[in-house]
Amino acid sequence: MKTLVTYFSQTGNTKKIAEAIYGEIAGEKEIKEIKDVNNLEGYDLVFVGSPVMEFNIPKKVTNFISENAAGKNMAFFMTHAVPEGFEAIHSWTGSIEDLTASGNFLGTFECQGELAQPVKEMLENSEDPEMRGFAAMVAPGKGQPDEAHVQKAREFAKEIQAKVQ
Ligand SMILES: Cc1cc2nc3c(=O)[nH]c(=O)nc-3n(C[C@H](O)[C@H](O)[C@H](O)COP(=O)(O)O)c2cc1C
Repeated sequence: MKTLVTYFSQTGNTKKIAEAIYGEIAGEKEIKEIKDVNNLEGYDLVFVGSPVMEFNIPKKVTNFISENAAGKNMAFFMTHAVPEGFEAIHSWTGSIEDLTASGNFLGTFECQGELAQPVKEMLENSEDPEMRGFAAMVAPGKGQPDEAHVQKAREFAKEIQAKVQ
């Protein structure tokens, strides 16, 4: 059994979760940024990770999933600056489930990831009033993902892997 953990991460939060998942995987495994993955041939299980940006999963990630999901065992992980329980989280994870309809979708892990200060400043100065509103509203989530979330990500990795063995 061969597993790939692949991710996009701008400020390191999603990468931290990717590494926690990768560390927990048994058997043959690889970890790569999405930009370094050409196709998913030869992988029995694929974890795909992304941050939320501008109220969406970035296009490069959704394109990657829709182009590669067919026939694959796939799980998704995501970090976002909004606090846990925030309404929009369901629509973000739901959109990923829709994209993986041609494959075997196994589950999602999501947690808060600190909004880096330079990003907060950039969003505060955005031309988009929605982004300015978001930057003013959201607490930075200092230190997230913390050890408790990293531990949950490890458990998620084990649960997902158990589904394909
Ligand atoms: C340009 C930009 C836009 C963002 N927009 C959102 C957003 O709409 N909602 C949200 O919850 N977080 C938003 N964030 C915060 C990130 O999703 C969060 O900090 C995430 O953990 C970053 O992951 P990374 O460190 O792997 O890049 C945004 C971050 C950036 C850089």
